Amino acid sequence: MIINQYNGNYNGRISVPGDKSISHRSIIFGSLAQGETYVENFLMGEDCISTINCFRAMGVDIEQKGTNVSIKGVGLKGLKKPDRVLDAGNSGTTIRILTGLLAFQDFESVLDGDASLRKRPMSRVSDPLNMMGANISCTNGKYPPVTIKPTQGGRGISYVQPTASAQVKSCLLMAGMYCDDVVEVIQPSISRDHTERMMKYFGIDIALEGKTVSIKKSAGFKGKKIFVPGDISSAAFYIVAASIAEGSDIVIENVGLNPTRTGIIDVMRSMGADITIENEKLLNEEPIGDIRVRGSQLKGITINGDIIPRIIDEIPIIALAAVFAEGVTDISDAEELRVKETDRIDAVCNELKKMGALIEAKADGMVIKGSKNLTGSDVKSYADHRMGMMLSLAGSFAEGETRIDDVACINVSNPDFYGILDSLRR
Ligand code: S3P
Repeated sequence: MIINQYNGNYNGRISVPGDKSISHRSIIFGSLAQGETYVENFLMGEDCISTINCFRAMGVDIEQKGTNVSIKGVGLKGLKKPDRVLDAGNSGTTIRILTGLLAFQDFESVLDGDASLRKRPMSRVSDPLNMMGANISCTNGKYPPVTIKPTQGGRGISYVQPTASAQVKSCLLMAGMYCDDVVEVIQPSISRDHTERMMKYFGIDIALEGKTVSIKKSAGFKGKKIFVPGDISSAAFYIVAASIAEGSDIVIENVGLNPTRTGIIDVMRSMGADITIENEKLLNEEPIGDIRVRGSQLKGITINGDIIPRIIDEIPIIALAAVFAEGVTDISDAEELRVKETDRIDAVCNELKKMGALIEAKADGMVIKGSKNLTGSDVKSYADHRMGMMLSLAGSFAEGETRIDDVACINVSNPDFYGILDSLRR
């Protein structure tokens, strides 16, 4: 893909596709409910389609029409043994949450994914699940494919998470619905809580106290209607573009504003961005509202600690904002970026450096000296959707022409990324 410099500003009202995390969970809980679950504004991105296909392979009837999905739930014990390997594609959320769900079924299953997923650690879920009595083996003790042998029942656990991770937390909570004793997860810092909110919405017995989440065995729950808010992680790219480009004024409608996800707003405001929130409401336990962003002069800041899980997917685009800020931005405590769709610390630093950014990698983050200019070059997305979107924007702020090796990966989370961007360039 060739990206040319764009010197104008960004103006207008947009909406972004449905939230990826909530879309996955709507299929998971809809499939396990009794009766129908109807989902509106579902993200038809490749990751969420992988989740749909896994449940179809386990006998769940799921119909798609545009961005609406109807799921004929089979109940907690109604999944059928899949007649093939369950393919999670590029999706860490699918493979990790499904491992917890499948740990205590009475059939064997195998979960696998693409080349990137096969490099992502699964022992972070198989270790605690095996402590609970599951029989799960990973390739080379650590990676997909993952084989789950049937086991009878499951023991409770009080699990202290070594790293904040919503995928691991959600995996254990799914397993907890099938265990006789309480399953408790103690988080080091609070990660996204969409699973907990959706459990509450479906009436599942879940308790929250500070950083501890606990769940009791579930007797089952009924299907419901779910509206998926716009994905703040997709909105983040337009928030940064409009903040950097002088004279911009955009509104992104109906975006999910769950406080465990709004770190991008806090970080951008600390950098001097002009962001206001309008029309706030609560839908299926998830806060939602419109985000207005006007162009402004950004400044460098220090980012570390508890905010990191709240911006974990936004750090690549925050790095680009830092290039166009005055002063130094220093990001630490973000070593988790090394085990995302690619090693996002090295990927961001290598590629932005090729474009002339003053950026240096650290073991747990990066340091960026704002230079406010980039030069078009040949760059690589590492088949990572967020790298593809970040580099596309970097290219449009860079002098000359930028060539990105692969942008098809953007379909993982925002198939309309370029269409939405173009609609703001008037
Ligand atoms: C997700 C959790 C995060 C995030 C991912 C989606 C989820 O991963 O990076 O894009 O839906 O639970 P971790 O739980 O590994 O931090």
